[in-house]
Amino acid sequence: MNAQSSVTTAAIEIRGLCKRFGRFTAVNNVNIVVPKGAFLVLVGPSGCGKSTLLRMLAGLEGPSEGEIRFMGRTMSSGAGGVIADAGARDAGLVFQSYALWPHMTVAQNIEFPLKVARWPRQRRAERVAEVLRLLDITALAGRYPAEISGGQQQRTAIARTLAPQPSILLFDEPLSNLDAKLRVEMRAELMRIHRATGATSVYVTHDQVEAMTMASHVAVLNEGRVEQFGPPIELLRHPQTTFVATFLGTPPANLLPVVRRGASLVLGDVSIAPASVAGELTEARLLYRPQQVAIGRVDGRPVLPARFAEAAPIAGQTMVTAMVGDLRVTGIADGYFTAEPGAPLELSLIGDPDAVFATNGERLAR
Ligand SMILES: Nc1ncnc2c1ncn2[C@@H]1O[C@H](COP(=O)(O)OP(=O)(O)OP(=O)(O)O)[C@@H](O)[C@H]1O
Ligand SMILES: [Mg+2]
Repeated sequence: MNAQSSVTTAAIEIRGLCKRFGRFTAVNNVNIVVPKGAFLVLVGPSGCGKSTLLRMLAGLEGPSEGEIRFMGRTMSSGAGGVIADAGARDAGLVFQSYALWPHMTVAQNIEFPLKVARWPRQRRAERVAEVLRLLDITALAGRYPAEISGGQQQRTAIARTLAPQPSILLFDEPLSNLDAKLRVEMRAELMRIHRATGATSVYVTHDQVEAMTMASHVAVLNEGRVEQFGPPIELLRHPQTTFVATFLGTPPANLLPVVRRGASLVLGDVSIAPASVAGELTEARLLYRPQQVAIGRVDGRPVLPARFAEAAPIAGQTMVTAMVGDLRVTGIADGYFTAEPGAPLELSLIGDPDAVFATNGERLAR
């Protein structure tokens, strides 16, 4: 590929991609263009179609409709089924259950795909040594999978995928079998590998912290559709739907259902904002960030009567969740805060709503 086309060609283009299982649509008209070297994270709730989409990228599943192109070359097309099979895609896949071959050592596991690809013996040996170093498992080269820990097995599986130097790396929840500490370490490790290899990566997770820390681009999936696609900060700051607004962010943003009464938007009996905020709508959802919800009464601000539910200390502050009727609302208290479950509590709303949504979930343009 010449320099010019490597600039203009996207690494992955997904056009009008659909996957149906009988009458059920698992992936519904997905359109995404992934630049070369990007780290795309697919997030969404269980069953939203993440693995199905990734399996189509890997060539393990053919689309019902639409197209997948890698570096401008058609890999799958709905009209003709799978065009390039999994082995011919220059893409490596790491699953959640990283099946290593039990009768092969760590080094033999890693070497295996190179043998399949008919690399000469000397180059194979060099490459195996290289990825063993990259994953920091050189000392384990002669051991069998049963003789190493889960985290070391994970590294071996990743090393095996990296060995043939695929230009596209596909990961399906590769860290979900690891404990919290190891997850954080491996996350950093994967980012380092991503930078070192320059491969374009697509990474599936339902852990939104993982998504926000690793991604250059995020696609939020819901019921097979892409709700929003873009850089993580853009999705956090400018969610286009209530689904994205409440799915991303820790703690999650609050969506207050309000109705127009005269010149105000009210929640219960509390006037929250001027009606003009919601344009012509008579009903809306107002987004308030947790940092806009103060615990206790603040003069001159709308005050919601609530009942204490739970508190979680975070970095010198406390994330306080309270019930306003049957609505969960999360705010931030300075310092340490706790109360009896069910104890009355006042929540004050600070500033204007960060975004306004219609009841169908779509954001109001402002
Ligand atoms: N081979 C299949 N036949 C029928 N339905 C399927 C098949 N594979 C997946 N599905 C359905 O398609 C939907 C999407 O499944 P998928 O595995 O892509 O979800 P996911 O987003 O990866 O979920 P999770 O986070 O739980 O892994 C689910 O409702 C699933 O039951
Ligand atoms: Mg899955």
